Formats: sequence, structure tokens, C-alpha cells
Amino acid sequence: MDRISQLTHSVLDDIDNCRDLESLENLRVKYFGKNGVITSELKSLSTLEKEEKKEIGKKLNLIKNTFFEKFEKKKKNIEVLIINEKLKEEDVDVSLPSRENNYFDSKIHPITQTINEIVSILGALGLTYEEGPDIEDDFHNFTALNIPENHPARQMHDTFYLGKNSNDYVLRTHTSPVQIRALKKNDFPLKIFAPGRTYRCDSDLTHTPMFHQVEGLVVDENINFANLKWFLEKFCRMFFDNENLEFRFRPSYFPFTEPSAEVDIKCKISSGKISIGDGNQWLEILGCGMVHPNVFAKVGIERKLSGFAFGMGIERLAMLKYGMPDLRNFYDGDLRWLNHYGFSFLDNSDLSWK
Ligand code: DAH
Repeated sequence: MDRISQLTHSVLDDIDNCRDLESLENLRVKYFGKNGVITSELKSLSTLEKEEKKEIGKKLNLIKNTFFEKFEKKKKNIEVLIINEKLKEEDVDVSLPSRENNYFDSKIHPITQTINEIVSILGALGLTYEEGPDIEDDFHNFTALNIPENHPARQMHDTFYLGKNSNDYVLRTHTSPVQIRALKKNDFPLKIFAPGRTYRCDSDLTHTPMFHQVEGLVVDENINFANLKWFLEKFCRMFFDNENLEFRFRPSYFPFTEPSAEVDIKCKISSGKISIGDGNQWLEILGCGMVHPNVFAKVGIERKLSGFAFGMGIERLAMLKYGMPDLRNFYDGDLRWLNHYGFSFLDNSDLSWK
């Protein structure tokens, strides 16, 4: 047998004898690595005469193609074997009885519960669910929202900056960047909401470095402030389950909306307890406004559109609705608190507003 045929045999036998991914990879290096057997053969082709070069070159190429074909097949086989072994180890006996009462012992965190309620209500009001990444770039978190570099609003956000170049990436400071991602799809009418985690470098009685917001955005040809007002009042009445809730829209400022407003609801605060819907004090619950023309321009939208946007803090909504006095307990991981304020998974079953 000539040298090349021998090589072909040993290559194929070696693959057959492989039993794991590591030895398979070693084999690839042995033959095709930088100093591999076949790599060297290929390199030495240049020293051969024309005819011989052609003949041996052809054979070597054939070995190469056959090797990689077998290599891929073998790799897949080994991967399947590994998965099967793993499945055997993790075998679960589904006929075992459940642990007594374990469904009822576990609790849904009030934030999850509140998000579920918000999803259910905003969904019933015709908005669709959107998501964006927790790690955002400067453009989506600030620039496109009409907050250019050196704008004072950047300072107010207590941003966590990531990466080597100080402001390449940030942990999103609000859910508003999802507005930009949704607008960029350029598909109107657009009616979305986006709940999720947000981050600011701030920690005291009323702030945690990680918290949650929900963003809303409705864009079409003739959206106006009255639409915004109707929508938010409807949402709040459904969320607090109170048809008579009273509202106050106060002029405010956000760089990405014009005009902007903050919304207060009527409440009673006595001896540290807040009850929503009666009394004659006001409590701020959200920020909102009409999408600023600069925001449309930043994402290259030239059509004549208008829209409203709003943003709310989910912890705040949960505290108000369920009478939870202290924000810091939310993320302590204290089971006693969770057992007290948490929800049974069955509490979610009546969340359909249709
Ligand atoms: N992004 C704002 C914040 O974190 C909240 C907000 C205010 C969102 C007004 C909006 C809005 O969409 O229109 O403080």
C-alpha cells in the first residue's frame, strides 16, 4: 500500500476509534492543525513535479473531504450519546405523588404579580408586549430620546456606565429606550407597552439600584392629548379597581415628550397609611406626554405622525395598591415578608379583563 493510501486508512480508523469530543478534536489537530500530518503533506506539495503534485494533491483533497464529512457525523453521534447519558441520569419519575401542599407554600413576588396585572390590563386595552435589553447603548437610552450629551437630564439618571469607553454602554436607566426600538420598526399604528428592570446608582429609603418600570407608547396619524388622558385614566381605574378615582394632570418636563405631564391620583394619607380613591391629598403615580418631534426625527421617521407615551414605576404601583410601606423589603429575600405580601399562583387566574 502506498503512503497516501496508508494515511487514508489510519485517518479513518482513528475517527472510528474516537469515543469523546476531546479526542475527536485532538485528532483534527493531529491531522489538520498548523503542524498536522496532512497540513505538512499539503505544504510539501510545492516541492513535487507537476504531474505528481496533481495526483497527490487530488488524493490529499479527497482525504480532507472524507475526514471532515466523517468528523462532523462522528461529532453529532457523540453529542447525541452525551445527551442520552445525561437524560438517563436526570430521569424523573413523573408518577411520584407531589409533595404535600408545595404549590400553596410557594408565593409569587408582588412585583411579578403587579407586572402580570399590568400586562393583563394594557393587553386588554389593545397594547402589545415589547421587550428591550437591560444593557443599552447610549443612543437608545439617551441620545435618541432627545437627551444629548451634556444635557442635565443625564445627570439626573444616576447611570451605571459599562465598558471601557465611559459611555458606550449603560444599564438602562428607564424603559423608554424600548420606545426607540419599537419606533425603528417603522410599522404604524404602533401600540406597545414594555415592562422590565431598570437601574440607577441610588440606594436609600425610597430607591433601590434595580427597580422596575413599564413604558407605554401609542403612535398613529391623529393621536392627541385627550387620547392619552382617556387611556391613563382608564388604566388606573382598572388597576386600582376603582371607577371613581380622581386625577390631576400637572405640567412637567421630560426631554422626550412635549407637552409633558405628571399624573396624580386622589388619596388619603393618615398615620403613614395611604388609601387610594378617597381623601383630598394628591399622590404622583406616573409621567407622560406627547412624543417629541425630535424623537421621531432621531429614528428617521418623516411621516406625519403623533403619539403619546407614559412611564410608571412598578414598585410604587405595587406599594400603593397593596399597602406595602417599605421599598427596601422588596429585594431582601426575606421569606417572612414574601409569605405575608406574596400571592398564591391561583390569584392570577382572574386576571383576564376580556
Ligand atoms: N422615563 C421616565 C423616567 O424614568 C418616565 C417617563 C416619563 C416615561 C414620561 C415616559 C414619559 O414615556 O412620557 O423618569
